[in-house]
Amino acid sequence: MEITMENFAKMKYDVFSMFNEQWALCTAGGPKEYNTMTIGWGTMGTIWGPANHGKQIITVFLRESRRTSDILLKDDYFTVCFFPEENRKDLGILGSKSGKDVPDKINLTNLTPKLLDNAVGFEEAKLTFVCKKIYTHLMGKDELPDFVRDTLYKNGDLHFVFMGEIENVYGTIGE
Ligand SMILES: Cc1cc2nc3c(=O)[nH]c(=O)nc-3n(C[C@H](O)[C@H](O)[C@H](O)COP(=O)(O)O)c2cc1C
Repeated sequence: MEITMENFAKMKYDVFSMFNEQWALCTAGGPKEYNTMTIGWGTMGTIWGPANHGKQIITVFLRESRRTSDILLKDDYFTVCFFPEENRKDLGILGSKSGKDVPDKINLTNLTPKLLDNAVGFEEAKLTFVCKKIYTHLMGKDELPDFVRDTLYKNGDLHFVFMGEIENVYGTIGE
């Protein structure tokens, strides 16, 4: 089924498998400067509005060390793109190489970037959300639960929480 800005909020998303199993690309920035990385963490939901009128958001969690978070600190736009299974290898590459070391890492993949409004997505994505950043927060070490403070964050490198209001949606869902 084709997804549009008008109907996307009524669709049923398998969000746990979309992020955790399928993965996605989070691409920050616009035509002048952008960078992409693979994400496995993310949420979809609503915030800041009365019942039925909350802002529809995607939240992503990007570590401080990522080139993508450097760009999203300066720029307001990001996309979250989901891909067919045949692009998994590409997501593996973009999730293991940093744009800090390999600025043209997208050239190592079969993916084709394309301009979407103020943001950048990919021709090959089957579902793309264009998001405008509405909130940024760096996780605080003191606020972390014990079970991650000394494991996931023992060397610092905390996650930024970026909330983006969904401004546009392209693609399809289901068979
Ligand atoms: C399956 C998978 C999921 C990932 N999920 C995240 C994530 O949610 N947040 C994060 O900060 N890094 C995540 N990473 C790691 C980044 O994608 C990786 O460090 C990437 O090279 C960062 O690129 P950049 O420095 O060009 O932004 C994930 C990697 C993989 C392979």
